[in-house]
Amino acid sequence: MSDLMKTYPILKIIDHGPGLRSLYFEKTFEVQPGQFINLWLPGVDEKPFSVSRITADFIEVSIKAYGPFSQAIMQCQPGQRLGLRGPFGRPFSWHNNALLIGGGIGIAPLRILGDTLSQKGFNFSYLIGAVTAHELLFPEEMKRQAATRIYTDDGSLGKKGRVTADIEQILDSEKIEFVYAAGPEIMFVVLKPILDQRRLPYEFCMERYMKCGIGICGQCVLDDSGIRLCVEGPVLNQDDLKQVTELGSVHRDASGRRVR
Ligand SMILES: Cc1cc2nc3c(=O)[nH]c(=O)nc-3n(C[C@H](O)[C@H](O)[C@H](O)COP(=O)(O)OP(=O)(O)OC[C@H]3O[C@@H](n4cnc5c(N)ncnc54)[C@H](O)[C@@H]3O)c2cc1C
Ligand code: FES
Repeated sequence: MSDLMKTYPILKIIDHGPGLRSLYFEKTFEVQPGQFINLWLPGVDEKPFSVSRITADFIEVSIKAYGPFSQAIMQCQPGQRLGLRGPFGRPFSWHNNALLIGGGIGIAPLRILGDTLSQKGFNFSYLIGAVTAHELLFPEEMKRQAATRIYTDDGSLGKKGRVTADIEQILDSEKIEFVYAAGPEIMFVVLKPILDQRRLPYEFCMERYMKCGIGICGQCVLDDSGIRLCVEGPVLNQDDLKQVTELGSVHRDASGRRVR
């Protein structure tokens, strides 16, 4: 694919639970774990989404209902044509003995990452969490693939509590040499000092309001680093994050204004 928008029919839709679904498109391009595509719903908007899986035949994008765009996606039907452009951004790198931490819809890019680590014969385990059981993506697939710890805020599946609740104990008791994380920014705020203190290398797959997706508009810049998340991210490592002063505090809204 490229940065030119082309439309493709939705091949299949799988509903994981209320307001959480995966759309499948024919595989017409390669994508690396952590990269994203821009999805265009004609007449509504265009938004960035991680690819959650790629096989020989299809690519999968997993979407949670939130505001106007993602709600409209919940009304889409198989056969409907959506615009896709990408893939964009810097992907994850590969590491053995890794812990993959996913919070909420942030679990989506960990699925394609886990598939790739598995194909490479690397050791890894999952640590995933969501507000409640029906907001948890792929728990059964992940359990079949690797050791998987599950947390829900309300205790409806796995252990009750935040996904990071036992992280220090896990890091101190297991052979973990690399941490990947994707999810809400508050999760990174909790994880970063814990990982830095242990000098564990890591990569976080981050989100910022994006528009062009190709580094032109400046909408997704992380202050003070000058990092354009759509080009130099969305996957950032511990060295990139040293330059970012606004983690968990400031982001840009749709107009580009910095808000707390
Ligand atoms: C790299 C990247 C990967 C993403 N991957 C996924 C994914 O796999 N699954 C998923 O459900 N969502 C993903 N998102 C979020 C998605 O792009 C939308 O933000 C989300 O669907 C909400 O949009 P909305 O219009 O429905 O809601 P709105 O009410 O418009 O926005 C809800 C929230 O999403 C943020 N948001 C809105 N528009 C954008 C935008 N253009 N870019 C970034 N953030 C925006 C807003 O700041 C707000 O916090 C990803 C975002 C980025 C940047
Ligand atoms: S979205 Fe335009 S520079 Fe990143």
